[in-house]
Amino acid sequence: MTTNIAVLVSGRGSNLQSVIDNIESGYIRDARIAVVISDVGDAYALERARKHGITDVYIDPSDYASKQEYEKEMMEVLKDNDTDLIILAGYMRLIGKELIVTYSNRIINIHPALLPSFKGLHAQQQAFDYGVKVSGCTVHFVDEGMDTGPIILQRCVPVLDTDTTDDLAARILIEEHRILPEAVKLFVEGKLKVEGRIVVHIN
Ligand code: GAR
Repeated sequence: MTTNIAVLVSGRGSNLQSVIDNIESGYIRDARIAVVISDVGDAYALERARKHGITDVYIDPSDYASKQEYEKEMMEVLKDNDTDLIILAGYMRLIGKELIVTYSNRIINIHPALLPSFKGLHAQQQAFDYGVKVSGCTVHFVDEGMDTGPIILQRCVPVLDTDTTDDLAARILIEEHRILPEAVKLFVEGKLKVEGRIVVHIN
């Protein structure tokens, strides 16, 4: 059976691209991106979706009276596209309770730091400013907290003395583009089991 994926984005969409490429190459099998949804009208991610013939939808949060109303509209789009898995790929909003409950353990997020360190925005800058000697990225299931859900995969990278924040962010991004497709593949193949806050990888 094909897993229908919805990807939520707010910007550039390089992580979206990594999933598209890994589906097209056959690394991720039996899955398709059914829809890409953005909360930003001119997000380049939408352009990437169109280039690959993927349905793209812009939902402007300011058109809705509340976050709940906005997400209700999003849920309609998710339902219309028979969504099995939601990927947050650079989606810069917190997900509301109803969406999380409806898609429990079926929403995954990529975060550019080794959680639980450096949650929230500008994680690479936070790590850089703190002076850590390693940082990295995390793919996790989304729960009601901010960047607190069960961890699926992490990868670390060194922080070099000569680095700027941009150097570090670029090094982390390379790993993001590896672990996000890897996590999606594990999910699609039914190899992830969530036990409390621990994600067990089934062989
Ligand atoms: C990525 O680095 C992703 O990890 C980060 O935003 C960037 C989006 O890039 N996400 C967060 O910070 C979420 N808190 P992309 O649009 O090129 O995939």
